[in-house]
Amino acid sequence: MKVLVTGAAGGVARLLLGGLAPAFDLRLTDVAGGAGVVAGDLCEPAFAREVCAGVDAVVHLAANADPDAQWADLRGPNADAVVNVLDASVAAGVPRVVLASSLHALGGYVDAGVAEVGEDAPPYPCCAYGALKVFAEATARVYADRFGLRVACLRLGGVRDEPPARSWLPGWLSGPDLVRLVTGALTADVGYGVYHGVSANSTPQWRCDRARAELGYAPRDDSARYAAGLPDDLAGAGGARRLHLT
Ligand SMILES: NC(=O)c1ccc[n+]([C@@H]2O[C@H](COP(=O)([O-])OP(=O)(O)OC[C@H]3O[C@@H](n4cnc5c(N)ncnc54)[C@H](O)[C@@H]3O)[C@@H](O)[C@H]2O)c1
Repeated sequence: MKVLVTGAAGGVARLLLGGLAPAFDLRLTDVAGGAGVVAGDLCEPAFAREVCAGVDAVVHLAANADPDAQWADLRGPNADAVVNVLDASVAAGVPRVVLASSLHALGGYVDAGVAEVGEDAPPYPCCAYGALKVFAEATARVYADRFGLRVACLRLGGVRDEPPARSWLPGWLSGPDLVRLVTGALTADVGYGVYHGVSANSTPQWRCDRARAELGYAPRDDSARYAAGLPDDLAGAGGARRLHLT
């Protein structure tokens, strides 16, 4: 299975690519370039069409991943590029797209003090970044319904080697669990779905029932293992970052 990974120079890709490489034939792209990476801007429709041609699936990670970013800096990478990748996938006959969404699509529940949030909860973004992830999920649904594109939207938690603060414990997603989740999304027989992506953390906040049932996601790591000695919070964290979802 030939898989295009966008945003291949980024932090999530760093924890993902090594785990996918044995099972998939990877093609990498990023506007930042890099060794083995096709350099280009997915805000350009022609470039999106070029890189999507001939692959069996796209894992779309490329984005402005700053939850404190403002509309002007998000519009291109987090809206236009998503549409370009979906358009290019349909045009090239790519059957499946795995879209990196974020728990910031639900960050309002954190602000409201809701203890546990399932995958059926209505979107409740906490910031422009989260609102555009909801846009991406909704737009992907249009492509699924109208063109038969299979799309798994993964609301990723905080993807790091280890959680850097106690406030990250509920939403942490380890590298190995990320690989399990994306592998499930690439191989499961599903049409369109929105799934939560966190590890098997002892602090339950984000339920992954649909990811478990439909993608066969079976997370193994628990952030509690790293809890001792962690600071409560990250110094200088901004508004959206206080949610510790990315
Ligand atoms: N890091 C997290 O914990 C986390 C959590 C939830 C969701 N996500 C989502 O996962 C994805 C990857 O996040 P990340 O942390 O690796 O971000 P990152 O900023 O480390 O990497 C994103 C990559 O996308 C590339 N990119 C940006 N705009 C582009 C464009 N127009 N064309 C081509 N490439 C472009 C950048 O050069 C960068 O290398 C993003 O969609 C992000 O919103 C990340």
